[in-house]
Amino acid sequence: MADPIRVAVTGAAGQIAYSVIFRLASGAVFGREQPVHLSFLEIPPAMKVLEAVMMELEDCAFPTLSGMSASDQPENAFDGVNVAMLIGSRPRGAGMERAELIRVNGPIFVGQGKALNRAAADVRVLVVGNPCNTNCLIAQRNSDVPNERFSAMMRLDQNRTKGMLAIKAGVPVSAVTNVAVWGNHSNNQYPDFENARIAGRPVTEVIGDEAWLRDRLVPDVQNRGAAVIKARGSSSAASAASAALDHVLSFRQPTPDGEWIAAAVTSAGQYGVDPGLVFGFPVRVKADGSWEVVEGLSLSPWARGKFDKVLEELRQERDVVTDLL
Ligand SMILES: NC(=O)c1ccc[n+]([C@@H]2O[C@H](COP(=O)([O-])OP(=O)(O)OC[C@H]3O[C@@H](n4cnc5c(N)ncnc54)[C@H](O)[C@@H]3O)[C@@H](O)[C@H]2O)c1
Repeated sequence: MADPIRVAVTGAAGQIAYSVIFRLASGAVFGREQPVHLSFLEIPPAMKVLEAVMMELEDCAFPTLSGMSASDQPENAFDGVNVAMLIGSRPRGAGMERAELIRVNGPIFVGQGKALNRAAADVRVLVVGNPCNTNCLIAQRNSDVPNERFSAMMRLDQNRTKGMLAIKAGVPVSAVTNVAVWGNHSNNQYPDFENARIAGRPVTEVIGDEAWLRDRLVPDVQNRGAAVIKARGSSSAASAASAALDHVLSFRQPTPDGEWIAAAVTSAGQYGVDPGLVFGFPVRVKADGSWEVVEGLSLSPWARGKFDKVLEELRQERDVVTDLL
């Protein structure tokens, strides 16, 4: 058997982690021939619940789970890890604006950024805990790990867009490709239907109902998280977990030719985004494991309006946490 992949999961006693951890341990993510070592980070009040999660993991007797450990110290939890899934933070409750979370959750990512210096040289860091783009910015600015090893999650928004487009067009979700989600994981994000494809054809040609695309699809994707909170009383967990695992896997394998994934990565100035901002772009992962922002996509003036609004939102989030950068 190969050497284990060491995966850190923060917020390991939380809802999203509960859907992530068992899939990682079972071989469903990295394959049944690939051992996985899980390293959990939690805060002391949640350690009891984490103990129960670890009992359940033992009781699953997964052959691919080569070991596990738990700590309330990020330096221990991140020691030697190849993948770090930063999920832990306080979730947004009913009626709470995402921006309010910035000051609560931001400081967590200062310490975790520093602690990531203990990770393996090939570590890839995914930030899920909200506000994930800005938390990712804080973590990377406080870390010696190169910026290109950090990303934040737009994949749930990509998956939501794909799902809604597939239902509307009456096609399997696998027929929907090339969905970019520009900007922030917030209700100002812009899920880009203009450049998306269904069975290789432009979405605007297949669906043809521009009013539905602009006035239903876009707001429904933007507000889907709030709709789930309203319906179930807590934020999306299984779908967020699934998206997080999709994201991790996508950064470990080349993106199919001509396609892209939605991920928030550090801007190098593409599309006029301030260099250094962690911004949702169309991203292509190359065969050597590096990635690039897909350039040259066109946006209509209407779409550019959405883009500029979410860019401004991320600038404001950055300005709120300058003391943490
Ligand atoms: N980016 C996305 O698409 C997306 C989607 C859904 C949820 N989220 C976010 O993911 C986060 C987790 O959601 P959840 O539903 O699992 O929440 P949860 O409250 O069920 O779990 C969060 C866990 O994080 C732990 N935690 C808090 N501070 C910590 C710290 N400093 N270090 C380690 N662990 C810490 C808590 O003890 C808790 O167990 C929230 O911020 C939520 O808003 C992001």
